[in-house]
Amino acid sequence: MNDFTFQNPTKIYFGKDQLKHLPTELSNSGKRVLLVYGGGSIKKTGLYDKLINLLENGKMEVFELGGIEPNPRHTTVNEGVKLCREKNIDMVLAVGGGSVIDASKGICATALAETDNVWDLVEAKKPIVKALPLYVILTIAATGSEMNGGAVISNLELKLKQGISGYSIRPKVSFLDPTLTYSVSKYQTACGSVDIMMHTIDTKYFSKDEKMDMIYRMMDEHLLTVVKWGPTALANPNDYEARANLMWASTWALNSFMTCGVVQAVSCHTMEHELSAVYDITHGHGLAILAPRWLEYILNEDTAKQIRRLGEKCFNVDQTLDDIKASKETIAKLKEFFFETLGLASTLKELNINDEKFKEMAINACNPHGVIKGYVDLYPEDVEAIYRMCL
Ligand code: NZQ
Ligand code: ZN
Repeated sequence: MNDFTFQNPTKIYFGKDQLKHLPTELSNSGKRVLLVYGGGSIKKTGLYDKLINLLENGKMEVFELGGIEPNPRHTTVNEGVKLCREKNIDMVLAVGGGSVIDASKGICATALAETDNVWDLVEAKKPIVKALPLYVILTIAATGSEMNGGAVISNLELKLKQGISGYSIRPKVSFLDPTLTYSVSKYQTACGSVDIMMHTIDTKYFSKDEKMDMIYRMMDEHLLTVVKWGPTALANPNDYEARANLMWASTWALNSFMTCGVVQAVSCHTMEHELSAVYDITHGHGLAILAPRWLEYILNEDTAKQIRRLGEKCFNVDQTLDDIKASKETIAKLKEFFFETLGLASTLKELNINDEKFKEMAINACNPHGVIKGYVDLYPEDVEAIYRMCL
């Protein structure tokens, strides 16, 4: 187990009746707030009107940037930067999911940088040290962006989707009200559930180094939480217990807690970001298609010892099977959960994706070092082979 430092500055208000604290919290950062939101779900649900009332009663001056795209574009982030400078904005309030929060992180960071273009920060590959304060109202359980210091931005011109990170873009305060996720569609609920699980499976469950027993157990419980409550939320979107469990599981999957002492090693996410950069697909769906194929590809006598644990702990795989058989059964159960229980299409073909760009995408996924340094290192030929297995 490695030494670690853990500090997470994000204050969380969790529950049904917490938005009343919003004006007081915002007033700690000034008066002029940029409200950032997506394609309109917050208007349909009535959340927008409620917020405008709250903010006006709290004597805040509100400016707006709506229309943030899923897989947020760097050009839209740059519009937000311009607004922040023109209107002398004190803080950003992101209302939405990972896309809105990530775009807002990009706005907060670029507004205080010596550039108008968030892509310069992506390319600099340096931790962000200065940013406007960010407040979040989460409306979909998926990415964990509500309590972490990462953001993923898409550049359509370059066909790339890449990240920025830094302590200063962690949200100052996040409001997590599970009732706000009642309106999330079945499809997005399924994709979000996959993403939550994959933040454990893809980034830390399998690792070359030893994990603290407590952290390993937390990961098992975290995965079991989604296996239990994801299907409940699909069957009954207004089930508070289900939505609350998914929301809290989303937040804790990627807020640095479960990587304590573990070297984070990401494989499927890096491959998926290429898919959503080039084909604009939903992140969680791309992960669902990739994950079982990735496990099939890396399965050997060595990796089987860890892969079988996932099946035994989360899907009741028979403990008497040998390592390879137990791992194959684990992968079959994972497919069943993603494609049958959660109902997601299981191949890239069904998303109208063919192999035309795989070679180029595989090279991009391995940039800048020519390899994805994951649980098992993947080179462009490996990545291309995994994409082909997904067809
Ligand atoms: O845009 P609106 O109209 O709001 O609709 C959204 C969008 O179409 C809809 N939605 C959100 N809340 C809703 C709702 N519809 C009805 N009712 C509600 N309450 O859901 C759709 C998807 O929204 P999006 O924000 O894109 O979803 P998600 O939270 O899954 O975010 C995905 C983005 O986050 C990145 C992904 O790559 C992707 O770009 N990620 C960010 C991470 C991070 N910052 O830590 C880590 C992740 O691994 C991920 O890469
Ligand atoms: Zn993810």
